[in-house]
Amino acid sequence: MNIFLLITLLIIQRSHGVIYELNDTEYDKMPPVYHLEPYAPCVHEPGGVYCTVELKLVSDGPSELMTMIEEYSLRKEMHLNHSRLNRGVCVTRTCKDYLSQNTSADLHLVLEGCLNDTFWKQYKLKSKLSTEVLCNDLDNKVDIDYGDIAVAVICLTVLMLNIVGSLYDFWFLPNKESKGNKFLMCFSIRHNWKRLVARPADGPDPRLRRLKGFNGLRTISIIIVIMEHSLLPFLITPNDSHEIERKYYNIIYHIFVDGALVVQTFFVMSGCLLSYNLQLHAEKRDINWTMIPKGIFQRWLRLTPSYALVLAITTTWLRFAGSGPLWQSAVGVEVKDCRRDGWLNLIYLNNYIDESQCMPQTWYIASDMQLYVTGLIILTLATSVTARKIVLSVLFVVSLIIPACHTYIQNLDAGLIISPELVRDYFVKDRTFNHSYKRGHTNLASYVLGLSLGMLIYYLQKNEFSVQKYKKFKLVYWATLPAMLILLPSGSFFYFFQNSPALYLKAIYSGVARPIFGSIILLIILGMAFKIENFYRGILEWNGWASPARVSYAAYILHVLFVRSLTGTRTTLIHVSLAHVILFTLGTVIITYLVAYPYWLLVEAPTVALSKVIISPRAKEKSKAESGLRKNERIPA
Ligand SMILES: *[C@@H]1O[C@H](CO)[C@@H](O)[C@H](O)[C@H]1NC(C)=O
Ligand SMILES: *[C@@H]1O[C@H](CO)[C@@H](O)[C@H](O)[C@H]1NC(C)=O
Ligand SMILES: *[C@@H]1O[C@H](CO)[C@@H](O)[C@H](O)[C@H]1NC(C)=O
Ligand SMILES: *[C@@H]1O[C@H](CO)[C@@H](O)[C@H](O)[C@H]1NC(C)=O
Ligand SMILES: *[C@@H]1O[C@H](CO)[C@@H](O)[C@H](O)[C@H]1NC(C)=O
Repeated sequence: MNIFLLITLLIIQRSHGVIYELNDTEYDKMPPVYHLEPYAPCVHEPGGVYCTVELKLVSDGPSELMTMIEEYSLRKEMHLNHSRLNRGVCVTRTCKDYLSQNTSADLHLVLEGCLNDTFWKQYKLKSKLSTEVLCNDLDNKVDIDYGDIAVAVICLTVLMLNIVGSLYDFWFLPNKESKGNKFLMCFSIRHNWKRLVARPADGPDPRLRRLKGFNGLRTISIIIVIMEHSLLPFLITPNDSHEIERKYYNIIYHIFVDGALVVQTFFVMSGCLLSYNLQLHAEKRDINWTMIPKGIFQRWLRLTPSYALVLAITTTWLRFAGSGPLWQSAVGVEVKDCRRDGWLNLIYLNNYIDESQCMPQTWYIASDMQLYVTGLIILTLATSVTARKIVLSVLFVVSLIIPACHTYIQNLDAGLIISPELVRDYFVKDRTFNHSYKRGHTNLASYVLGLSLGMLIYYLQKNEFSVQKYKKFKLVYWATLPAMLILLPSGSFFYFFQNSPALYLKAIYSGVARPIFGSIILLIILGMAFKIENFYRGILEWNGWASPARVSYAAYILHVLFVRSLTGTRTTLIHVSLAHVILFTLGTVIITYLVAYPYWLLVEAPTVALSKVIISPRAKEKSKAESGLRKNERIPA
């Protein structure tokens, strides 16, 4: 590992006025970025007040320490900003003197004076509070409002419906052959459980079975995404920030941290399913423009209820779910933002507003919805193969240019740089995340690749394509995985070796990185669909992936809730070591799935079934091929 560090340090082009590395002695001269005083003893005291603040170090005169702090912080891709400090202070103990001078004083003034004096004594630096003071609730009262009651009523209703539906299915359904009441059967847990553990792709159309590997691809990608998000507490509350910063100089570490491109997998799969299913559909009936509103509405109805319930719980009961010095900054902020902007999530436009921390992971669901609408419009209006080829080619070229233009004109980073400071602000203050990463139109390329892939697979299957001739390219196929591992951290190569790469290079990279990753996924899917080899395919097509893949949407919308809550309920800083990281990431994945399974059974499956009953009451009479198709249309989120 240290070899990498050494190589990096040698290659880096040093620029003037930036400190790249400090030894521990020097590092410890700087005030620690994070510090939390003991929480429990403080709030257990009668009238105990515990506050968390962010403060800014300043110095009026020349200060050697301040210069070092500023220069060290300038390397902002790897280092924290050491002039921004987070403190958890027991006001009634540490700042007792400042309180007693002024009994009815404003906590802001008390803390400002208190901390300023502390820093002056220790470091000869002054400090200013830079955010509002967040304190433990003094009266600790739980004020329940109408929203809370409404959400509680909805949750109880869903639970009751499930109980009634299951009892009905179990005891009162007289004839096991009969289908029973359609509405009640939607809520039968037994019935839904059977669907959850059903063998993958049991649809009658054998062609669809060739896409079985999507289950593996989807589950593995979701698990990677959850693991990456669960690193949050290590960056927000490390007890040794130097250790974290050193890790950023290790290229191995970047493979794990820079997972931003993984999401492109979902876009490719999503586009592929849309165009493939639409072509199967076209065999049975005509495609015309009326499918556009119908398709959008169906998709909205399928995705929204389970999403809306998580959103509703986030805006209401979540705020009572925990406490601690970090609770307000990790969870309270999200609750507040959801109350303000949550409605945008429900119409899938939340990725076009910034500075909202309301379920930030759902930028993907919004982008996917926007791209789905785009794809649906293109495929229903351009029905001939030639027209589709032309439109998709033009769109692909456009989709390469759009992100590049954004990067060039707005002077953004090449890819999303997951720096410590970025995570510290929960991504919202990052301009690249704002303008390029999470938008729908900047992720168009992979979706277009997916749409083309769906057309290609359909076409090749129709012409009974034989892969025999291509078997010799197995090695190329096996190279896709290593290629992915190189591509993932490639965005960080930019700042790893060099200080500030030329803007046009960054623009080109931002245009091509996502489509290249998308193309690798495309190759993997294509090889899998036509059985070019059995190793990757065997892994991805394992039957065991089927049920985790079904709950992947639930897992995706739920997991950040746990990551934030686990961070927010911490009262101490966390030790940074590989073992802790593994424990934490795997633990978060397990907790997420432990909740996602019941959530799917009790909420997602019933609401999806119910929406189908509402949309087409005669669904049972429809052709079987179509119902098999529906099953596979599930969104890969
Ligand atoms: C750290 O660096 C300083 C200045 O470069 C030097 O004086 C000191 O001896 C170093 N300490 C260690 C432990 O290497
Ligand atoms: C660090 O944070 C301070 C206070 O918010 C800010 O003034 C300064 O510009 C930041 N430094 C860097 C390198 O971003
Ligand atoms: C007491 O607080 C007020 C404002 O709340 C402030 O103007 C005044 O200077 C404070 N007095 C002392 C002694 O700190
Ligand atoms: C901070 O402390 C310094 C030194 O005691 C003092 O000069 C300055 O006025 C203080 N600033 C604030 C905002 O309290
Ligand atoms: C994007 O992020 C930046 C962070 O510097 C913020 O100032 C800005 O308001 C955000 N939104 C837009 C549209 O730029």
